[in-house]
Amino acid sequence: MSRWRDSGINVESLWIINERDKTGKHTNVYHGNFIPQIPRQMLKRYTKEGDVVVDMFMGSGTTLFEAETLKRNFIGFDINTEIIEYVQSKMDETSPIQYYIHNCDITNNQAVSECLRKDLRTLNRQVVDFIISHPPYMDIVKFTNLVEDLSHIGDLNNFIQKYTQAFGNVFTYLKTGGYAAIVIGDVYKNGEVIPLGFHVMNSIKCNFPVKMKGIVVKNIEGNRGKLGVNDIWHYRALNSDYFIFKHEYIFVFKKA
Ligand SMILES: C[S@@+](CC[C@H](N)C(=O)[O-])C[C@H]1O[C@@H](n2cnc3c(N)ncnc32)[C@H](O)[C@@H]1O
Repeated sequence: MSRWRDSGINVESLWIINERDKTGKHTNVYHGNFIPQIPRQMLKRYTKEGDVVVDMFMGSGTTLFEAETLKRNFIGFDINTEIIEYVQSKMDETSPIQYYIHNCDITNNQAVSECLRKDLRTLNRQVVDFIISHPPYMDIVKFTNLVEDLSHIGDLNNFIQKYTQAFGNVFTYLKTGGYAAIVIGDVYKNGEVIPLGFHVMNSIKCNFPVKMKGIVVKNIEGNRGKLGVNDIWHYRALNSDYFIFKHEYIFVFKKA
């Protein structure tokens, strides 16, 4: 708090971010990644140097690269072997942090527990300080052909049940008073909006001892450009009776 003015932390609930940060190791190679500004804001606000951060769906390593810059230790999970190899190729022994990358199904309680217990032992810790989670938005973008991949689930109830189970696998290891951030958007299916974000939020609130600390709405940059260049999207939205998604949510929970 002594440096609150220069912290660069955005405390507003609407984030208009027009440009993706592509500096350092951030290359935007992975379709379905989030912008580095999201984990940066979250890590700056909810963690300090030396803390342990878990990314449940680490994808192309956006959170890991931010954790390196901010000197937070990192534990990440994903099942996409190709993208894990890509992330590993960007890392070397000069990294200022301890980091652990697991090719592991996050819904598998036993496997996740084994990874977390082992990493925490090495880190000489019992609990993690922060969780970030950016799951597939149901089956909107497919990531792998694996059956465990949540991006194969087209049924809402099935998705919520699997996601809640995965969240619980990691939440057990979060310290009391620690924060968890979920980044998620809504989807269209069969001609109507499924408010996936709200369903996920509700499930977390109903199933875990948490206080809801924030609902941030973030714009998805790029769509505006798309509209400007070619108004086919405008036409399609009117013709097919839908609104173009411009936003995603960041839900922030605090473990009670
Ligand atoms: C939305 S992406 C995350 C992108 C990441 N935030 C980034 O910036 O690159 C979701 C990720 O979840 C992974 N995934 C899907 N099902 C999974 C599962 N059961 N266990 C672990 N990872 C899974 C996918 O392989 C994909 O990389």
